Amino acid sequence: MPYPFVLLSAAVSLDGYLDDTGPDRLLLSSPADFDRVDEVRASVDAILIGAGTIRADNPRLLVNSPERRAARTAAGRPEYPLKVTVTATGDLDPDAKFWHTGGAKIVYTTDEGARRARALGIAADVVSLGADLDWRPLLEHLHDVRGVHRLMVEGGGTVHTQLLQQGLADEVQLVLAPLFVGDPKAPRLFGPGGYQAGRLRLLDTRRIQDVVLMRYEPTAPGAGGTASAADRHWLRLACELAAECPPSRTAFSVGAVVVAADGTELARGHSREAGDPVVHAEEAALAKIPPADPRLATATVYTSLEPCTHRASRPHPCAELILRAGVRRVVTAWREPDTFVAAADGTGMLREAGVEVLVLGEYEDLAKAPNGHLLGRS
Ligand SMILES: NC(=O)c1ccc[n+]([C@@H]2O[C@H](COP(=O)([O-])OP(=O)(O)OC[C@H]3O[C@@H](n4cnc5c(N)ncnc54)[C@H](OP(=O)(O)O)[C@@H]3O)[C@@H](O)[C@H]2O)c1
Ligand SMILES: [Zn+2]
Repeated sequence: MPYPFVLLSAAVSLDGYLDDTGPDRLLLSSPADFDRVDEVRASVDAILIGAGTIRADNPRLLVNSPERRAARTAAGRPEYPLKVTVTATGDLDPDAKFWHTGGAKIVYTTDEGARRARALGIAADVVSLGADLDWRPLLEHLHDVRGVHRLMVEGGGTVHTQLLQQGLADEVQLVLAPLFVGDPKAPRLFGPGGYQAGRLRLLDTRRIQDVVLMRYEPTAPGAGGTASAADRHWLRLACELAAECPPSRTAFSVGAVVVAADGTELARGHSREAGDPVVHAEEAALAKIPPADPRLATATVYTSLEPCTHRASRPHPCAELILRAGVRRVVTAWREPDTFVAAADGTGMLREAGVEVLVLGEYEDLAKAPNGHLLGRS
C-alpha cells in the first residue's frame, strides 16, 4: 500500500525533553529555526499533531510566510497544508485555534471518539477508523482519499514514539536546543519500548543560530509481515542498482541489497556486474557475504525483480541461493513476467519454504524502467 512520506519533526532539550511542566510552551528552537519549520510546513501536503499537543499548546499550525502561501497557491496547491490530529477519546476543545485557522482539517479517531467529537461540534472532518486507531489505515486514508504524499508530524512524544516504533517514519528532523529541562515529569520526545528503526542513518547536520538540526533516516527492515518505511528505501536502492547493469537483450537488469535486521547493509549487487556476463543480482550480493555470517538468518534480501526459479547459466537459481543462505525475508517490486521463463514463481517457491515475501507493487515501474526494451518484445 502506498503511504505518504512521513517526516517527524521536533525540537528537544539536551536531556531529551519536548517541553517542561510549566503552563506555557517551552521555546526550544531559535527564530531562524522557526522559519525553517515554516518552510518545511509550506512544502508538505499535511501536518499532523496529537490531541495532547492541541490541549497543551493550543497551536495554530499555519504556514506563516505570505510568500510561501502564495507560492503554494501559484503551484495549484491549497494555501495551507491539511491539518490532521489523532484522538482516541475525542476529548477536544471546539474553541481551540487549530479548528479556526488555516485550511482543511481532519480528525482521525475511534468510533467512540467520533461520537464525542461530533457531539462537541468540532469544525473538521471526523473519520473513525473503528474500535482502535491503527496508524497504517490512517496513512492509507491520508494517501488514497486525501491525496497526501508528504506528511509532516509535529509531535508530541506519544505520536512520534508510535510512528518510529512501528517503522512508519521515513525521516526524522531533530533540532537540539542548548538547554536542560531536568524534570522527569516533563514530556519526552521518544518513550520506552521496542523501536523498528535500526541504527538511523545521519543524512545531514546544520547549525541554525544556537540550535543544531539533525536529519536522520531509519534503516531497519520491517517485521511481522509488514513493510517499514526503511523497506521502501532499500527497495528503491535495489531498483536504482538495476539501472547500473550493462544492457542485455537476453536477460533482465536487476538490483539487490542484503540488509541485516539492525539496518546494516551487508552487501549489494546487480546483474552482470564486474564483467561476469551471467551473474544475477541476488547471487552477486550473497556471494559477498561469508556463508557463516549469523546475521543472514534475520536479514532481508531486497530485489527489484522477484528471485528466479530456473536458469540455464548456473546450477542454482536465486530463490534456492536465498534459501541456502538461510535468509527468511525477501522484499521485491516486480513479479517475473513470461519474457524468458514461463510461469516463473520465485515468490511462491520462497513462501512455500516459509520465507516471508513482500511485493511492493508501487515500485514496479521503477524496477521495469531499465528493462523496457525486453518488455516491448513480449
Ligand atoms: N518540542 C516540540 O517540538 C514539541 C512538538 C509537539 C509537542 N510538544 C510537547 O509535547 C507535549 C504533548 O505530548 P503528548 O505526548 O502528551 O501528546 P501528543 O503526542 O500530541 O498527543 C497524544 C494524544 O494523541 C492521541 N493519540 C496518540 N496516539 C494515538 C493512537 N494510536 N490512537 C488514538 N489516539 C492517539 C491521544 O489523544 P486522546 O487522549 O485525546 O485520546 C493521545 O493522548 C506538550 O507538552 C507539547 O508542548 C513539543
Ligand atoms: Zn536469479
